[in-house]
Amino acid sequence: MRRAWLVGALSILVATVACAPNIDRFELAREIESGSSPPILDVRSESEFSTSHVPGAVHIPFYSVWSRSDELPTKEGEPLVVYCEHGPRAGLARVGLWLAGAGEVRFLEGHMTAWKADGLPVAAAVGEGSDAGAESGAESEWVETAQAALKPFKQGLKGALEKGLSKGPEAAIDACRLEAPRIADSVATESLHVGRSSHRLRNPENAPRPWMRPILEELRDSVRDSVVGELPHRSVRIDDERFGYAEAIYMQPLCLTCHGTDLPQPLRERIREVYPQDQATGFSVGEFRGIFWVELVTRPGVS
Ligand code: HEC
Repeated sequence: MRRAWLVGALSILVATVACAPNIDRFELAREIESGSSPPILDVRSESEFSTSHVPGAVHIPFYSVWSRSDELPTKEGEPLVVYCEHGPRAGLARVGLWLAGAGEVRFLEGHMTAWKADGLPVAAAVGEGSDAGAESGAESEWVETAQAALKPFKQGLKGALEKGLSKGPEAAIDACRLEAPRIADSVATESLHVGRSSHRLRNPENAPRPWMRPILEELRDSVRDSVVGELPHRSVRIDDERFGYAEAIYMQPLCLTCHGTDLPQPLRERIREVYPQDQATGFSVGEFRGIFWVELVTRPGVS
């Protein structure tokens, strides 16, 4: 009898606090693309999350949201968007969030089922940092291909930079401008492309493609205080045919010459001349500067 009462009371509690207004999935996709999305929480299982999730979502299973409430993503003045596969687990998570005193919560309309059915962009948690365990066979192969393709690209850029700098920074600007795309082209094949991008661009031609934006947003405040160890990298299934790989780039002392704070006057003028919309100065050593990226066609015959 007492138990029935408790179950009844709990169901009412769940029903009450589980009620939250929804957020339209297309609206959320647009906000993600423009880099202005609210914080997002995925409360499904680890394996569901690592297969595919809403780009930028943080993962905490529904039964842990209360005990792990200090890991909840937050953003001043924004509700927390919560989703699972179909809805029930998000409803349960809402109770934990309510107990944890989390602020406003909104559910993703139609949850992951509708998001995928509408072909909205998804990210996969494969290859985060050195956590290679979550990668499937094909994906770990793509990651290897991407990393192998970046090697000559990085070496080529470094060589061009050093050669240019030996003739003075203004000459090096031209070397970078002309050489960077040439080196990227020399590494590319019909089914593989490489490049660099950033949240603060120098060259507008390096603007991020949509799948890169959540990654840049996620890493933009990261810092690197050590030169050893693996760089953060992310892998994304862009769609059925394409796979994306991105690796963080951090500022080194050498980069200050052209991306730091106190650029010599002639160099600053030359940069203004060539890149009137330059946003890539004012960085300090260890700061996140952008990404190396690779886009792979995973299905032969499609480009
Ligand atoms: C001689 C000046 C110079 C130095 C030194 C330099 N850069 Fe650049 N950087 C440029 C120029 C010019 C571009 C734009 C050309 C291009 O498209 O690559 C650029 C572009 C970039 C981009 C591509 C994104 C964007 O904003 O267009 C990244 C990332 C980047 N630099 C990182 C670095 C890092 C990291 C270092 C140090 C290892 C460095 N740079 C050193 C001049 C420099």
